[in-house]
Amino acid sequence: MCGIVGIVGTQPVAGRLVDALKRLEYRGYDSAGVATIVDGRLVRRRAEGKLFNLEKRLAEEPLAGTIGIAHTRWATHGAPTEANAHPHFVEGVAVVHNGIIENFSDLKDELTAGGATFTTQTDTEVVAQLVAKYRRDGLGRREAMHAMLRRVTGAYALAVIFQDDPSTIMAARSGPPLAIGHGRGEMFLGSDAIALAPFTNEITYLVDGDWAVIGRDGVFLFDIDGNRVERPRQISSAAAYLVDKGNHRHFMEKEIHEQPEAISHALSHYVDFLAHTVRPIAEEIDFAKVPSLAISACGTAYLAGLVGKYWFERYARLPVEIDVASEFRYREIPLNPASAALFISQSGETADTLASLRYCKENGLKIGAVVNTKESTIARESDAVFPILAGPEIGVASTKAFTCQLAVLAALAVGAGRARGTISEAEEKTLVRHLAEMPRIMASVLNTIQQSIEQLSRDLSKCKDVLYLGRGTSYPLAMEGALKLKEISYIHAEGYAAGELKHGPIALIDENMPVIVIAPHDRFFEKTVSNMQEVAARGGRIIFITDEKGAAASKLETMVTIVLPNVDEIIAPMIYSLPIQLLAYHTAVFMGTDVDQPRNLAKSVTVE
Ligand code: F6R
Repeated sequence: MCGIVGIVGTQPVAGRLVDALKRLEYRGYDSAGVATIVDGRLVRRRAEGKLFNLEKRLAEEPLAGTIGIAHTRWATHGAPTEANAHPHFVEGVAVVHNGIIENFSDLKDELTAGGATFTTQTDTEVVAQLVAKYRRDGLGRREAMHAMLRRVTGAYALAVIFQDDPSTIMAARSGPPLAIGHGRGEMFLGSDAIALAPFTNEITYLVDGDWAVIGRDGVFLFDIDGNRVERPRQISSAAAYLVDKGNHRHFMEKEIHEQPEAISHALSHYVDFLAHTVRPIAEEIDFAKVPSLAISACGTAYLAGLVGKYWFERYARLPVEIDVASEFRYREIPLNPASAALFISQSGETADTLASLRYCKENGLKIGAVVNTKESTIARESDAVFPILAGPEIGVASTKAFTCQLAVLAALAVGAGRARGTISEAEEKTLVRHLAEMPRIMASVLNTIQQSIEQLSRDLSKCKDVLYLGRGTSYPLAMEGALKLKEISYIHAEGYAAGELKHGPIALIDENMPVIVIAPHDRFFEKTVSNMQEVAARGGRIIFITDEKGAAASKLETMVTIVLPNVDEIIAPMIYSLPIQLLAYHTAVFMGTDVDQPRNLAKSVTVE
């Protein structure tokens, strides 16, 4: 979603604000803007599209000022035009906003009836209009901010500056995250600690309902009733994560190649590589006793959860209820309070996942968070946190976070199996040995399949539709392959359970339809091969992703066969993620799309 930064300092801020926005650009990139105060007047530069357009504007028309707020936008209300780009100005009040003001329509009607003239199509403008109205009514700046906060509903992270006070930024949080950075004679504000990492590592996170008055020397925090509150100051490790693309063309490519190391790092937190055991799982959730597990997440994280369901049910005999978070939160699922719930989220801020978490919490379930951002809201609201330790994922399409989520879920499922007595000590050792081999196998696969994937991607980039098929854990992987391809190459793709083919999608098969079949030589292999026969009989072009045993066993003619090493079922989903990620990546590169920042998407989705 949108990214927010603010600086109240002693040196010019515009350049530093834009640098901080660059580290937030993954949150949205359809327009950007910056506002400062110069000689008692609010001034701003805004530009449609990517941040470099704003940089160009600022190079042509630099902006002075030692206080400022800035924003990178992912449009919700109103087209991504310059007029709708933040900051919004109304009568000496400037506002940037991440989230959605849900009652904006009623407020707009009320303000319009009172004589206000709106100049944008955004929901955000009501915030600036309301504060301006309360100032006209005679309220002081702080009182006007508080009065506005009592009127707006929905999700927001807000930063506000006033033309008549060049030494204060006001900020508020209800939903999307907001971090205050403490400097020496300067203070900072940002949507996350990474944005602020070059400025300071001393961070205070606002809690939902908090609002802040930030001056050069410190911050005063209040709750929604206007009472002073204190929040802890933490030392952030984000500075260690100031990353670049290295020798790679895109962050996504770099992140795909980081997976062996990232998985090794993640696994070492959960398994003892010498004893070949899973380390004791967080005691807050007693996997030995829970009667069932609920899992909820969005997008790629949901698909990791779906693979996790297969593992928890198979290895721990633990029934799993799983749904995408946007459905889970409203389904009114009857939940057993003795159960536990897992929420999977790279960002730890996804609005629907957080709402599902709160629903489960209200129903008395123990909550576990499988997250990449330990300081995130989802982590903070959970009883047990299971970090995936993937490091920052900048490419909008998730890659290493997905496989690290899988690695953590695999370790948890094996640990739960041991705790429940559904797998023996010897079986645990065997499974952990397989997990331990994974980084080495991933590194070798990344080296060997590159060329064949590139050739295949050239062909795929000419297609309009692609079908992915798989069974067992390869079924969620088929959906993940399709999701990855469509989000960065914009080619229409669908992932199906191979057995579902004949119940509908088979009607799509003709000589123009590539069908990517993910089929390691496992328990389901013969059945998947039968489904491939059905595709071949109708002239479909089969791209077969299998292992050495599978390639030897299948006599079918394929367009291409990508052969991976024979691996145990528990690590197959991570290993088979590599060809599907690379296939999407190279296809997108051939098509010339913006791989790291695909159109219409944003990372960290903090609205419903
Ligand atoms: C796809 C992708 C998204 C996210 C989804 C959930 O490549 O990245 O589908 O997985 O938006 O985000 P998190 O994991 O931050 O909750």
